[in-house]
Amino acid sequence: MSFSPCIKLCEGTLSVMMRRLVFAAAGLALATAVAAVVALYLSNSGLREAAKNATAPAIGGPFSLIDHTGRGVTEADYRGKLMVVYFGYTFCPDVCPTGLYKIAQALDALGEDANGVHPLFITVDPERDTTAVMKDYVANFHPDLVGLSGSLEQIGATTKAYRVYVAKAEPEAGAAADEYLVDHTAITYVMGRDGGFRQALSHGSSVEEITAAIRKALDDRS
Ligand code: NI
Repeated sequence: MSFSPCIKLCEGTLSVMMRRLVFAAAGLALATAVAAVVALYLSNSGLREAAKNATAPAIGGPFSLIDHTGRGVTEADYRGKLMVVYFGYTFCPDVCPTGLYKIAQALDALGEDANGVHPLFITVDPERDTTAVMKDYVANFHPDLVGLSGSLEQIGATTKAYRVYVAKAEPEAGAAADEYLVDHTAITYVMGRDGGFRQALSHGSSVEEITAAIRKALDDRS
């Protein structure tokens, strides 16, 4: 009598389990490593390094858009002051209003120093966000807030330059064709007087953190 069939079977089962375990562990390690790299990349220091490094593509750059008064503008029109740039769309149910409200609060907290800042709201949804729509919308938040729209190509080039993720969702069943949501990056970019990248603030940033980041960029005379 031999136990070998059972042992073989058990060994076989064991080795399959071990292999699965090793695969799972390797998968987890890989996922963790990827998450760590992404987190590092998204951290401010990572972004700042990327912006400083001439070989890495910088965040921001030239743009050609239409402001909420109907005037054609480029990034050169905003030189000499900081740009605080936020991408979103007026139909956004809560993320954009929250982000813009916090930027407005930060501008108020800066007092007279806010004169050194151009707060810019750039739409990711130019098809609905016309000049007239943008004009009404920005007035809800702050008198200094500039709403920028443009053609699909102009907006596409700008979101690409700022590496903003934009994904138009299908309207819900029963909703009108123009009642769609747009998934988008909700980052506040602080750009220097030279138009260069200074800092990126996540959606969760507090008014105090946004205020401090703007103040730091204002104090930076380089
Ligand atoms: Ni939004």
